[in-house]
Parts: sequence; C-alpha cells; structure tokens
Amino acid sequence: MAAIGTWAFSYPAVRQMKDLILSGEHATDVVERAVAEVEDDKETGHHIVGRGGFPNSLGMLECDAAIMEGRPGQFGAVAALKGVGTPCKVARKVMENSPHSLLVGEGAQQFAVEQGFTVEPNDNMLSDRSASAYQDFLEKKSKVRGHDTLGVIALDLKGNITVGVSTSGAPFKSPGRVGDSPLPGCGLFADHTVGAAAATGDGDKIMCYCPSFHVVQLMKQGSTPSEACHIVLTDIMTKTEPDKCFEIGLIALNMKGEVGAASSVEFPYTFWNQSYDAVQECTQLSPS
Ligand code: GLY
Repeated sequence: MAAIGTWAFSYPAVRQMKDLILSGEHATDVVERAVAEVEDDKETGHHIVGRGGFPNSLGMLECDAAIMEGRPGQFGAVAALKGVGTPCKVARKVMENSPHSLLVGEGAQQFAVEQGFTVEPNDNMLSDRSASAYQDFLEKKSKVRGHDTLGVIALDLKGNITVGVSTSGAPFKSPGRVGDSPLPGCGLFADHTVGAAAATGDGDKIMCYCPSFHVVQLMKQGSTPSEACHIVLTDIMTKTEPDKCFEIGLIALNMKGEVGAASSVEFPYTFWNQSYDAVQECTQLSPS
C-alpha cells in the first residue's frame, strides 16, 4: 500500500489517501476523492488545478483530467471541460459509464450533465486571484507561468493501483488547447502487473514523448521507479539538449509500494508507504 502526489500542494491529498487506503478503500475511490478535494478548492486553483485555476485567453476555465486503473482497458478522460468543479470525477464516469475513453469540450460537458453533475457559470470557476491574473493578461502585465498539475497514484490494501491527474492547463491558453494530462501514456499510465506513473509540466511538449508509458515499461523491464523516472528524463533531455529542456516532473509507484521521481526543474513531491507512519515530503533537484 502506498500513495504519491506531484508538488508540495499534494501533501493534504496524499495524507487523505493514506487514511482512505488504511480504511480499506479501493484505489480508484481513493484517487477520485483526493483529487476532487483539490479540484473543488478555489485556494489551490493557482496550482493550475480545477476551480480557481487560470482561464484560457477568452477568460473561460477549461479543465483536463483523467483516471486510469492498472486493470487493462480501464481509462477515462475529459478535456477542455467547462463549468464543472470536479473534472476527475467526470473522467471516472467516462471510464465506467461511457463506451468512449476521452470526451472533450461541449461533449464532455453534456456527458457530465447526463451523469448528474451541475454545470456552473464561469464566474464560479474563477477565484479573485485567477480573475485578476486574467485582467493582467488582457492588459499584457501577466507574469503567470507554470504547469503545476495534480497527479496522484494509489496502491490499496488489495493490490489495486490507480493513477489520476487534473489540471486547468496552461494559463491563458488558446481555447480548446489540450495538454498531456488527459492523454494515456503521456500524462499518466498504469499497469497492474508493474505500477503506474504520472507527469506534470509543459504538456504541449510532454505529449511528444509519452513519458508515463515509458516509465512503466522500464519498470516492467526491471527498473525501480526512481531509475525509470531518471532514465526517461535523461532520454528527453538528451533529445532536447540539457540546458533547453522544458519543464517536466515525473512520479512513479510500483506494486511493491516503492516510489520514485525525476524532473528537469526543482520538483517537490509527497508520498507515503508502509515504511512510514507519516506522509513524506521530498524535493527532486533539477539535474546539474
Ligand atoms: N501538464 C499540464 C498541461 O500542460 O496542461
């Protein structure tokens, strides 16, 4: 049993995941509940996740989210979804109640309504902070950068593994822009015989490398989670030239509960497994 999350702001989510896992919850419920808490909280929106995130260039919040179980074929995602505070919950509904795997834009919103979600006005989706950042963007004063993205992985008491990701995407992006997060193999991947991985960072670039699939394949071939993340990062950095690498952070968890991470930038992440009573905070330094 174990849990891991991207960035320092995942600490409360991973703590919640630990409690849920220890109380016997299924990994998918653990991931969905922990991600939803963050998504629906305006205060964490400035980490580029859910409600309170930064809108697109037209001022509309458009979210991407996905969930994947280790069991083969269990994947659901939404992209460019407007007006729903918990997009990863909608992604789970896509996985369980739709013949499709990825729904986007108005189709994703229509599906969410059919599944009982409330679609809220865009004003409800922005925080004072993100609305004001948007005004600065319009006045060409904006300094907002970053691609925080929440990615979490849970391994439950029965050995089920699930990974979930959620993001409001690149601040002030073009309407309809989709990043790596809802794309299987790019933003996330899971295999119940091996483990799972998730990515955070510049999704326009990350999606060109399928890093989450690559990490899981390397673990399948015998690498530890840490080794796999570092090999994938090194491979990308070799292709992009080390000093020009885009922002990417990777986390991984295997079926033994071992965790690993690698990143092109300083990358705090949080995890817990059976070796520890408390959730651990670690920082992966960028390669020198
Ligand atoms: N990694 C999140 C995004 O670029 O959309």
